[in-house]
Amino acid sequence: MAGVSLFARAQTQTPGAADAALVDAWRAVRVADCARCHGKDHEGLAAPSIVGFARTQSRERFIAAILDGNPQMGMPAYRGNPLIENHIDAIQRYFAARADGSLAAGAMPGRE
Ligand code: HEC
Repeated sequence: MAGVSLFARAQTQTPGAADAALVDAWRAVRVADCARCHGKDHEGLAAPSIVGFARTQSRERFIAAILDGNPQMGMPAYRGNPLIENHIDAIQRYFAARADGSLAAGAMPGRE
């Protein structure tokens, strides 16, 4: 599977530990398909913009919003989902970097 080999390649090439973690986060949000509710580039659709939320919220609130979710409002809780929980710090850093403009939408981090 292309997805799996990209994941493996990102981990073995290791352009730097920090960058590798961001690549893992980038892949995890794609595998989880957050975009099906949050829209292309996660900038809002049926659900609000994740990038906008990262811009205004603390790291703790951002992480809690994903792990706890808000099932009544349609946001699944990702606590216990290893794909997301194991990468949650890097997922927060990924969206913080999108929010401050240091990472572009779309491209895998480090490969723009
Ligand atoms: C089934 C649709 C759906 C999926 C899939 C989904 N979300 Fe959400 N998400 C929502 C909805 C709806 C809300 C708004 C909930 C509310 O009004 O409090 C939300 C809220 C959020 C928030 C808080 C934003 C805010 O303004 O309150 C974050 C952060 C978030 N989602 C991240 C993610 C991430 C990361 C993923 C993938 C791992 C994901 N979501 C997958 C529907 C979804």
